[in-house]
Amino acid sequence: MLIPELIERKRNGAELSPQELHGLLEAFQSGQLADYQMSAFLMAVYFQGLSRAELDTMTRAMIGSGTRLSFQDDGRPPAVDKHSTGGVGDKVSLVLAPLLAEYGLRVPMMSGRGLGHTGGTVDKLESIPGFRTGLDLDEFRSVLDEVGCAMIRQTPEIAPLDGRLYALRDVTATVESVPLIAASIISKKVAEGIEALVLDVKFGRGAFMTEPESALELARTLVELAGSEGLHATALLTAMDEPLGVKVGNALEVREALECLEGGGPADLREVTLELCADVAVAAGVATRGEAWESMAGILDDGGARERFGRLVVAQGGDQGTLDDPDGLPSAPERLTYESPVDGMVAAADARRIGLAALVLGAGRRHVEDDVDPAVGLEVLCRVGDVVERGQPLVMIHARSEEDAAAATSRVETAIEILDEPPEEPAPLVWKRVTEDGVTDWTPDDA
Ligand code: URA
Repeated sequence: MLIPELIERKRNGAELSPQELHGLLEAFQSGQLADYQMSAFLMAVYFQGLSRAELDTMTRAMIGSGTRLSFQDDGRPPAVDKHSTGGVGDKVSLVLAPLLAEYGLRVPMMSGRGLGHTGGTVDKLESIPGFRTGLDLDEFRSVLDEVGCAMIRQTPEIAPLDGRLYALRDVTATVESVPLIAASIISKKVAEGIEALVLDVKFGRGAFMTEPESALELARTLVELAGSEGLHATALLTAMDEPLGVKVGNALEVREALECLEGGGPADLREVTLELCADVAVAAGVATRGEAWESMAGILDDGGARERFGRLVVAQGGDQGTLDDPDGLPSAPERLTYESPVDGMVAAADARRIGLAALVLGAGRRHVEDDVDPAVGLEVLCRVGDVVERGQPLVMIHARSEEDAAAATSRVETAIEILDEPPEEPAPLVWKRVTEDGVTDWTPDDA
């Protein structure tokens, strides 16, 4: 069948057969189908969605487009990973990978860079002087063998078809499609060769999916799709109305991750990290939730996870001195405090607007090829529900210049909302859990 006919059928809502869809994707990979045709196809999928069978075919084509690693059947502990749909101040991976490794699981983690108002693990790690995220696959395996975890950026060998499709989606307004997101995420995780995956699907003002119900649909699709590819997955739906933790910005977030790795740091960061870690241990079949949670909380408190992180940093070329004295991390020359203009209660610390303030400072990127400034960012010193007084510091801005600080301040002013009455109850930090068995509400007994 001719390519324009396939695009037309998808546009009109028909289901393509596995042969047709596979053929179309293969033609794109081999250069016989032009970018403009694939862009039209992606827009058709954006509006018409994909059937379950089409989603499976697309995911398999993406997995099969490159190398598929395997860490199974080598007699060693299960290999696991985490994926977050992206947020502001989300430095969970920096704590989770060494924590799980110290617990006894293996974590071959491939992460992304920040884009738009959200941060990325790769940028955070690269703010540590010398840290190399661009390891080849042999180096990746060898760090994993030596340390129990390895943290790298996406390599061209893993699901290269996703890389090409994502580049088109990024410039054709077709990123926000549940099936396309699901195929993109799960293909990379399956090709990574892991046995269990935990997904942190965020909802709220600073999330990719602002509506909880859309986030739930995405979580369900991700867990189901992973399951049909033989990957045990579980998802937590977590709130992203305000930033996670206090610090937003690359080196600032490394500092906060170090605090958490030493048993301290903000309570929300510790809670989300432990919840995700316990869930992936359950998905890997190595413990019950309660056992995993208790034992990993202990590993944070006794310094084991911090020590493991140090080994990871050194194995990937990072500077030992910076770990011994985190003041060696990049820091910005200008500091400016945003103070509360009135007495009242904090009704919002809008994560999206805070993320955009960080972007204005240079902590994030507008286009994939942009550089980021590791030193700049913000510390959000208030949380929704706090009672504050006029003149109280609410946000500390770390900037490269006074002009940048002023530009970020005007964003911060719109992010922080102070009311003279109690605000609405914020969404629970962990809302629901999605497993292969279905959806359950999270309750405090889960912790
Ligand atoms: N992250 C991915 O890896 N792919 C998407 O499509 C969206 C977010």
